[in-house]
Amino acid sequence: DAASTSDPLMLDEMDTTASTVYGIQPEDWSHAALSVVVVGASGDLARKKIYPSLFALYYEGHLPEHFHIYGYARSKMSDTEFREYISGSLTCRLSEKDKCGDKMEMFLQRCLYHAGQYANKSDFATLSERMAGTEQDRQRANRIFYLSIPPSIFTDVAACASEAASSVSGWNRVIVEKPFGRDLASFQELSSELSKSLSEDQMYRIDHYLGKELIENLTVLRFANLVFEPLWSRQYIRNVQVIFSEDFGTEGRGGYFDQYGIIRDVIQNHLLQIVSLFAMEAPVSLDAEDIRNEKVKVLRSMRALSMDDVVIGQYRGRKTKSTKLPGYLDDKTVPPDSLCPTFASVALFINNARWDGVPFLLKAGKALASRRAEIRVQFRHVPGNLFRNRLGLDLDRATNELVIRIQPDEAIYLKINNKIPGLGLNLDVTKLDLTYRDRFEGHLPDAYERLILDVVNGDKRLFIRNDELDAAWRLFTPILKEIEEKKVVPELYPYGSRGPVGSHYLAAKHGVRWG
Ligand code: NDP
Ligand code: BG6
Repeated sequence: DAASTSDPLMLDEMDTTASTVYGIQPEDWSHAALSVVVVGASGDLARKKIYPSLFALYYEGHLPEHFHIYGYARSKMSDTEFREYISGSLTCRLSEKDKCGDKMEMFLQRCLYHAGQYANKSDFATLSERMAGTEQDRQRANRIFYLSIPPSIFTDVAACASEAASSVSGWNRVIVEKPFGRDLASFQELSSELSKSLSEDQMYRIDHYLGKELIENLTVLRFANLVFEPLWSRQYIRNVQVIFSEDFGTEGRGGYFDQYGIIRDVIQNHLLQIVSLFAMEAPVSLDAEDIRNEKVKVLRSMRALSMDDVVIGQYRGRKTKSTKLPGYLDDKTVPPDSLCPTFASVALFINNARWDGVPFLLKAGKALASRRAEIRVQFRHVPGNLFRNRLGLDLDRATNELVIRIQPDEAIYLKINNKIPGLGLNLDVTKLDLTYRDRFEGHLPDAYERLILDVVNGDKRLFIRNDELDAAWRLFTPILKEIEEKKVVPELYPYGSRGPVGSHYLAAKHGVRWG
């Protein structure tokens, strides 16, 4: 009985055929080839995340036997030069299994590079011919195009790839990275342009937070346990906090960041996706469409936001004894008078029977005191608590709290009130604690590994549907517009602090103390 033993569970030895649980027919790869095209392969994301994840999938035997990966970008590189470029980012981090070096070499031999322009069909046609060369002895060729490029060229690439490089003997799937527009209008335009070349079925819009272990587990936690779901409503939950904080600034990405700001970069997508999964009704089944139907209902039930619900901040430089931490405006790629928010907290309300009146407080910030992402669920007071006068029981702090720590150090814990063992009756808050590193031994897959594997398997559960994005932009566009048109000045906060004081006032207004 696994639950009764204290031995850690070995993750690497567990069954990974989860796709069948979600109603996905496993593909028969015995006569099929897979070609993955990483468009923008010379860029940061490709090197940092996409190739290492593909290597990890290969290493663990999750990619079909006949696969090749084609890097595509304008930069001129030979296959050998490209292999050198990416090889530094590949690691044998999964476990210290034998022959990792050999596997890496075998993987790199499957990585090819093709230089071309993004709006040039004949460059894509030549790429397609090269792919046909490595796919030739298979009955079917399935192709994945990963658009790891700035959104300004998404539509050109989608058009060229679909007209000149799609497979005719198998399926074609396209992974699209965020940002999906800057507001409702630009999102709708992008979406309508992309739909000229791609069907909804072919499109996999990635939000890598949905690929994180603890986020995928949210549905399991809620719907595979009896104890949580009955409490999952306004009747017992006082507030929900979704917190994202990073202990580093936008150094090196200021140029991109200044165009977007923290609301578009993190809140409108990653945190809002978490809220919709957290708050949705039980789906009819685990089918992707059923889950996304429920998520979109939550998004569409949200009360319109006003500026009273939002606090924005921007980090400023700070001197410590040993170093000088730069402010956002010290970044040379940021305009010196930028009002771009690097911090925001937002109070959301879901106007439905389950959540009416419960504040969902979202907070995201760069250059804060720590790096963490958490969901904190604070429960109501125990009515008529018999122990209200006992030593150690501060009623305000003694409400139960469920914490889902997404990263780092993944954990789920429930704060409970407990008698301090011994004579007498003193109470204290303590934790029922499921810390993953203590319970599970082995490697947790990176979000990108899970999501890329889902694309190979055709599992869309963790990808975002068009109408979800539409609802998300409808919610945030008015306040983004107001912040920009009225040039709302962000409250400054020191690098490495807990963020602007205004955020505490916002929480206090809703009777919440940030966790
Ligand atoms: P990059 O800015 O590094 O761009 C990727 C490649 O696209 C570059 O190597 C370059 O290749 C080409 N490129 C860059 N700018 C232009 C341009 N203006 N016109 C044409 N081609 C251009 O992006 P990232 O790799 O950082 O990110 C890729 C995508 O993923 C983006 O949409 C980004 O928003 C998103 N993303 C990135 C994250 C990250 O951590 N980096 C996190 C989440 C999302 P070449 O010049 O060789 O053609
Ligand atoms: C990206 C944002 O989507 O997520 C970045 O653009 C942010 O600004 C990153 O740093 C955080 O991702 P993770 O997985 O490191 O928490």
